[in-house]
Amino acid sequence: MTAVKNRSLILGVSGASGLIYAVRAIKYLLTADYTVDLVASKASRLVWQAENQLLMPAEPQQQAQFWREQAEVAEAGTLRCHPWGDVGATLASGSFRTRGMVVMPCSMSTVAKLAAGLSSDLLERAADVQLKEGRPLVIVPRETPLSLIHLRNLTALAEAGARIVPAIPAWYHQPQTIADLVDFVVARTLDQLEIDCVPLRRWQGR
Ligand SMILES: Cc1cc2nc3c(=O)[nH]c(=O)nc-3n(C[C@H](O)[C@H](O)[C@H](O)COP(=O)(O)O)c2cc1C
Repeated sequence: MTAVKNRSLILGVSGASGLIYAVRAIKYLLTADYTVDLVASKASRLVWQAENQLLMPAEPQQQAQFWREQAEVAEAGTLRCHPWGDVGATLASGSFRTRGMVVMPCSMSTVAKLAAGLSSDLLERAADVQLKEGRPLVIVPRETPLSLIHLRNLTALAEAGARIVPAIPAWYHQPQTIADLVDFVVARTLDQLEIDCVPLRRWQGR
């Protein structure tokens, strides 16, 4: 895979539990002055309501403001939100140059659609483009337990070149808060794109 070493990446947010993972990623990426093209699936709105009792706006500029408020980053970096149905958006094309794409959290529905090569909304299309272009695609699945179908679909994505980074935190770095646990997953996810902007106490050996 040839990663474009620019400071622009795509973040897909699907309707799996764990929106905090996306919020923390946005916080660190914008603070480090990255450009994030964000596409949140239609189902992610339901998760926002269930997890935070919040209504995520669909209109792009309002949505960008919403994510910035959640991430507590007023001005740094660049955040562009794209409507989930806009399969004609820039990131729907291989000619859109990006470092790669992260889908976090990633539902089993999106995993299945990506494994089948479907591109029925912008998130799926953008992810499909990363695979066809041989660019990094990082999937952060969130489901438990996993059925054989889930495992097979994840295997198909790994075989196609995606990196699978399950939303499974570790405890050896002495986490004190939920944010510490979340940040471990966010850091290991961004590691896959060679982005090091999360203040993680990394393992230094015994
Ligand atoms: C509150 C809530 C939590 C959910 N959590 C998960 C989850 O952790 N993993 C998952 O695969 N699906 C989860 N779902 C189901 C997905 O949202 C559903 O399959 C949806 O069709 C996914 O669409 P998307 O992949 O286009 O976002 C959840 C749904 C709701 C409403």
